[in-house]
Amino acid sequence: MKRIVILSGAGISAESGLKTFRDSDGLWENHNVYDVATPEAFARDPELVLNFYNERRHQVLEAKPNQAHLSLVEFESQFNVTIITQNIDDLHERAGSSHVLHLHGEIDFARSSVDETLIYPLNGAEIKLGDRCQKGSQLRPHIVWLGEAVPMMEEVIPLVEMADILLVIGTSLAVYPAAGLVNYAPPFAEKFYIDPNGLDGVNIHDFTIIPKTAGEGVPSLVKQLMNKKGIEPSD
Ligand code: OAD
Repeated sequence: MKRIVILSGAGISAESGLKTFRDSDGLWENHNVYDVATPEAFARDPELVLNFYNERRHQVLEAKPNQAHLSLVEFESQFNVTIITQNIDDLHERAGSSHVLHLHGEIDFARSSVDETLIYPLNGAEIKLGDRCQKGSQLRPHIVWLGEAVPMMEEVIPLVEMADILLVIGTSLAVYPAAGLVNYAPPFAEKFYIDPNGLDGVNIHDFTIIPKTAGEGVPSLVKQLMNKKGIEPSD
């Protein structure tokens, strides 16, 4: 089976009602991203950061996968599919995708603030100031904040290196190291970038640019790639 690797960002969940980070006013849900998504912000005002992510968790749980998440699942009948997402929501999983790797963590998990291997499912619960891990330290969201290492990189680089097709969806490719992943695809790989802003400010080469929203662009590209294999996807 040919290998498809998908790198998704906040834009794929925009049509599910979840806000992107860098679109209109440069704010994320009325906050400067550095005031809520950095270890410094958590050290300065842990309650603000915990509450902010508690709100994001509520939003994610209420959101539903959209046509882009859903149509990616169709690839699985014909391709070996890996989704590498920068998103902290679980909309790819809820759509039915079976191989999803979260580069930046997951909103519905907590982890210890002293030992990042201690991870706890929240099942929709909030994290409060005073909630502690088994070693007695404050719990924090299981999210990779700006300025922190991205431990998943080691696992995902070899997957991108083996891609026959790389599909990049709804990401500004502004945040490293995630953005650098596109450079690991082999030269022969077919590469597609779906984003309504097109290549505005994005530094990539050899990509077919599809300047559409994920909800429009992904289902038609899925159809196109599946047809190439000679099989009609179900609608
Ligand atoms: P950004 O907000 O930087 O980029 C979102 C992209 O989605 C932009 O290029 C938009 O043009 C595009 N977009 C908007 N609506 C869309 C739609 N309906 N369909 C498709 N694309 C659409 O988000 P990311 O690139 O995901 O990290 O941001 C990367 C990381 O920066 C995030 O994971 C987060 C943030 O800081 C952390 O929180 C650690």
